[in-house]
Order: sequence, then C-alpha cells, then structure tokens
Amino acid sequence: MEPQLFIDHDLCIQCGACVDDCPFHIIALNPEYPELLPQRVHHCIHCQHCLAVCPTGALSIFGCDPNQSMPLPRSLPEPRQMTALIKGRRSVRHYRPEPLETEVIETMLRTAVNAPTGKNIRGCLFTVIENQATMAQLRRETLEGLRQAVIEKRLSEGLSYFRHVVSAWDNGRDIIFRDAPHLLIVSVPATNSTPDADIIITMSYFELLAASMGIGTLWNAMVKWAFSVIPDDMYARLGIPDDHIKGYAMLFGRPAVTYYRTVQRDSAAINRVRLDP
Ligand SMILES: Cc1cc2nc3c(=O)[nH]c(=O)nc-3n(C[C@H](O)[C@H](O)[C@H](O)COP(=O)(O)O)c2cc1C
Repeated sequence: MEPQLFIDHDLCIQCGACVDDCPFHIIALNPEYPELLPQRVHHCIHCQHCLAVCPTGALSIFGCDPNQSMPLPRSLPEPRQMTALIKGRRSVRHYRPEPLETEVIETMLRTAVNAPTGKNIRGCLFTVIENQATMAQLRRETLEGLRQAVIEKRLSEGLSYFRHVVSAWDNGRDIIFRDAPHLLIVSVPATNSTPDADIIITMSYFELLAASMGIGTLWNAMVKWAFSVIPDDMYARLGIPDDHIKGYAMLFGRPAVTYYRTVQRDSAAINRVRLDP
C-alpha cells in the first residue's frame, strides 16, 4: 500500500521531526510543510514513526487519525513497575478452569501485535483456542497420539520421557497442557525476514501483558515436540498454514497459584568492553 500523507497546516509547526525520524527518508519539508518524496515512497515500511513523533498531532499517514493514538509518555509504566513485572512474572502450571472472555483475549492479541518485527512485516498469525471442548479434544488427541508413538516405539531417546507423560495422563495428571483453558501458537510466513525473532518477541510481549493483567502463561516446548511425533499433522488440524514457521505453544488462563515474592536470580554475565585505542 502506497502511503497517503495528510498534514493539518493549522497544527503543523514545521519542526521537521517527521523528516528526521523517518528511517528511510521518504519525507521532506517542501518547502514549509512535510511532503512525501515520490522517488522514495516505495521504501516506506509502514512504521508510522512520522505520526508518532509529531508533537502537535498534525500528521496523518495511511488514513490514521493521530487523535486515535494513545498519548505518551505519561501512560508508560515506571521502571519500578516494569522491574516488578519482569522479575515477578512466573511460568504458571496451575490454572483455574473458567475460560477468559473473548474480548479480553482479543485485547491481548491486538496489543501484542505492536511488538517489533523485522522490516515491520506484520505477518503474525495468532492461532488461539478459546473453546473448552476444543481444548479438551486437543489434549486427548495429543495424548492418544503420544500413546501410539510409545506403543510403536517411535520416540527418540530425547523424547522418551513422553512415556511418563502418558502414564501421568492415565493417572489424571496433564503434564503437557497443565489443564490450562487456552492455548496460543504464533506463526509467521517463512518468507518473513526474521520469522523466529518475530514470533518470540511477540509472544514475550503477550506474556508480560498477561502477567500485568493477572493472567498466567506457560511457554510450552512440550506441545511442539509432541506435535512432531504424533501421527496427525496437528498444525494443519489447527488451521496453521503449511508454509508458516511455528513458535512454541503458550498456555494461558487465570492462575490457580499466587506468587508472593520474586525468585532470586539477579546475577548476569556481563562482558564490559573497552577497546584499546
Ligand atoms: C521456550 C520455552 C519453552 C518452555 N517449555 C516448557 C514446557 O514445555 N513445560 C513447562 O512446564 N515449562 C516450560 N517452560 C518454562 C520454563 O521451565 C521456565 O521458564 C523456567 O523453569 C523458569 O521459571 P519461571 O518462568 O517461572 O521464571 C519453557 C520456557 C521457555 C522459555
């Protein structure tokens, strides 16, 4: 989509901030007000920095009304709050059974989509299970698929612990899905310039937002590994395109566990560099 730039001349103070911050230099003051440079517009990556950096809200691009943006920076959390969030988030393995409201999940996903992606290619697909019957069926099919893999001796040494997962399931314990009410898989087309990073950053933002809302999450490699050995192509069953790179699964829902303090793992390996002149 070609960018459409609109400048409100009553509001524009001709400060040139939009010109300076455009990463691909597609805007110039011409001579007083910002205008697109026709020979450079094809470089636009749709980042909307021009809209975000305008101090007076005079600039609209792609039809976006600056008044619809959330005002900054007073709405940003303080470092103390961010520190508590980063240190206080936990992997939640005990969930309350009731599902989250569809609107809550949608708000979380619409926020997570703001995560940075390579070249600003917004290709993330959020595959989410909201329905409890579907969640129960996925659990059952995955565990029965694993049972089949155990019986047919198809598990590699690295995945042999799935035998214990199946016997735990037979004893009423769900070690993989942890009885969580919801599951999210983020995938992006393999053609994206940075698909693996796009997925992981988007999921990390989702996780932190969830924690701030009192919603628990669990990154889950086991689901991915289980899907790799069960007979069904579970990704196809979930409607995830074949040509997408798939991330780890993330379970989420209201936690049935409360953490009262942070864990203590603040030591960081730091390589401070000072090059000899
Ligand atoms: C990529 C990734 C995959 C994970 N997979 C699983 C998993 O399959 N099952 C599980 O119980 N925990 C899983 N975890 C959670 C880690 O075990 C957990 O992050 C770690 O023990 C530290 O605990 P904390 O997250 O509460 O700080 C995973 C974490 C990451 C980052």
